[in-house]
Amino acid sequence: MEQMPFTFGKTTDKVNFTDREVESKHLEQNFRSAVNTMLISPRRWGKSSLVERVTETIAARDSNIKFCLLDVFNVQSEAEFYENYARAIVKATSTKWEEWTENAREFVSRLFPKISFSPDNMADITFGIDFAEVQKQPDDIIDLAETIAVKRGIKIVVCIDEFQNIANFESPLAFQQKLRAHWQRHHHVCYCLYGSKRHILADIFANPSMPFYKFGDIILLEKISSNVWGKFIRRRFKDTGKHITLKMAELIAQKVDNHSYYVQQLAQQVWLRTKTNATQKIIDDAFESLKNQLSLLFTGLTETLTATQINFLKALLDGVTTFGQENLLKYKLGTSANILRIKDALLSKEIIDITPNAICFQDPMYRYWLKKDCF
Ligand SMILES: Nc1ncnc2c1ncn2[C@@H]1O[C@H](COP(=O)(O)OP(=O)(O)O)[C@@H](O)[C@H]1O
Ligand SMILES: [Mg+2]
Repeated sequence: MEQMPFTFGKTTDKVNFTDREVESKHLEQNFRSAVNTMLISPRRWGKSSLVERVTETIAARDSNIKFCLLDVFNVQSEAEFYENYARAIVKATSTKWEEWTENAREFVSRLFPKISFSPDNMADITFGIDFAEVQKQPDDIIDLAETIAVKRGIKIVVCIDEFQNIANFESPLAFQQKLRAHWQRHHHVCYCLYGSKRHILADIFANPSMPFYKFGDIILLEKISSNVWGKFIRRRFKDTGKHITLKMAELIAQKVDNHSYYVQQLAQQVWLRTKTNATQKIIDDAFESLKNQLSLLFTGLTETLTATQINFLKALLDGVTTFGQENLLKYKLGTSANILRIKDALLSKEIIDITPNAICFQDPMYRYWLKKDCF
């Protein structure tokens, strides 16, 4: 099959990765000087891609730094966290199969009485966790990276994706206290914690009464600018024998509000429809078609909302920014106390994002669909 020049739905590979020069340098510096880092942005702006790129680049040059990447999106409990965590660290610090088994035996066999391996598949290591035992003494696991780093004379960077998920564990506060108390004493390991739900992460990292307050450097990842996207899209067209002007390439990014995932998706749709030269008509058609493809999803999402939540979104679309008596009546929003509840609900559904300056839609296509097909 012909290789498509754009990707979405998985983290980007090198040739599909653009810009992020400043952020990449910043992260690299932090990792090299063992500064803990928290990276936050709405979904699909490019956190996972960025961390992957930076860690791969450093790992290729420097064998003395090991990276442990762990995604806790599907991790439901503290016990599961410990098991996944131990496995990820053992895996990241072992290059050969023998080393792997040796590391597992040496560092975690006391905690995990039933370690099983299948020599054909390195990914198949399972730890039978004795949670009663681990709960009595989780310290060894929480310190595992530092222990291995010291013993092996290496540095380790532990990167935990979708970190906001730990807020769903049974005793999130006690868990965070344990992690923080240990991790802050580590000198050969640094932690990069990142995720999407800004309101939850802000509470974890920036609330003075929370354990992770002032744990390290907080980076709020921004969107990639239209200009950078434009050059990237034009280059990818050129690489595959097609043509697009810089202006049209920038238009692709602008149409989807520079949202990384959608820029790649729309660019791909335009590319597929283009024989030799991309035109504005092709872009507009591709954009409409993208909206239509998503309509089923958006209809389902809208069905989960209450009438007042939908009214609130309508007000936002009309450009309403303040909710005085007049607007409460006009949009049937109930009392002003209701507004707080509506905002909270839409925030936790990740439909809106609240920044100091504005309330905005997280998904530019959903915004467009609501405006065009719903209201
Ligand atoms: N630097 C980048 N260059 C090009 N495309 C990117 C970049 N970062 C993200 N993307 C696009 O956005 C999509 C979502 O990125 P991802 O890293 O999964 O976001 P997040 O982890 O913030 O949810 C990727 O699949 C890719 O298509
Ligand atoms: Mg991600």
